[in-house]
Amino acid sequence: MARVDILSHSELKQMRASCKLAADTLSMIAEHIKPGITTEDINTLVHDYIVAHDAYPSPLNYRGFPKSVCTSINECVCHGIPGPVVLKDGDIINVDVTTTLPKRLGFYGDTSATFYVGEPSPMAKHVTEVARQALEIGIAGVKPGARLGDLGHAMQSFVESKGCSVVRDYTGHGIGRVFHTEPAVLHYGEPGTGMRLKRGMIFTIEPMVNLGSHETVLLDDGWTVLTQDRSLSAQFEHTVLVTRTGVEVLTKRDGLLKHSEDVEWAQLGHYSSASA
Ligand code: MF3
Ligand code: CO
Ligand code: CO
Repeated sequence: MARVDILSHSELKQMRASCKLAADTLSMIAEHIKPGITTEDINTLVHDYIVAHDAYPSPLNYRGFPKSVCTSINECVCHGIPGPVVLKDGDIINVDVTTTLPKRLGFYGDTSATFYVGEPSPMAKHVTEVARQALEIGIAGVKPGARLGDLGHAMQSFVESKGCSVVRDYTGHGIGRVFHTEPAVLHYGEPGTGMRLKRGMIFTIEPMVNLGSHETVLLDDGWTVLTQDRSLSAQFEHTVLVTRTGVEVLTKRDGLLKHSEDVEWAQLGHYSSASA
């Protein structure tokens, strides 16, 4: 049986602060996502913002990752490394922000969103919106007594009903005093299986959704993950807390994100009418 760390009240306060900073960083970067910017520019903006808030950009030097944020464009599933690549009209890009606050021995906040660069194709928008809604569906299943397999099944059923697939090779994760810990949060699965959720548990939900097959390949740089068939892929991530009655989205953003037509997680029930 996996052990899951439950934070004290004062630790939870610090965890909320780190998650809020991660969310604010993502809101900040949303304003900059447009054709002509490079992923290196995004890295610099994210790095400087997090450091200015007395926190540390957790990806930097994490298991040798060379940059402060992950930027994953089009067929990149996750863990794209920022560099000289220029965003162009029609791209979709996931920006995955993780903060450590305080910067030494702090708490981790982890959140990502996929943004439209200019005007993407209908298919690129489709995979993005399916990923966004998959995260909302996962979050909606979080409450004491629910099982992780219930969440995974709900997300997988939805994604496949929209003609897309769920990545199996990467998962959500427990988070708090460490970046990645138990439990593994699968975005696919069988109802009635897996860990039973308890009040106080904190983990990420971060479905990666592909337009084609779910299979992935890892590039020689040891980080960049692409879809095996080079189909488009999109992802959204929140860090969530199981509460007495349900869920608190610790990385919830204020307002809407202009460039991604962000739908607040709480607006559940509206997605069925909005989906293609
Ligand atoms: N933020 C990613 C996640 O959601 C992990 C990135 S690890 C890195 O778990 F080293 F690539 F940054
Ligand atoms: Co994560
Ligand atoms: Co992340």
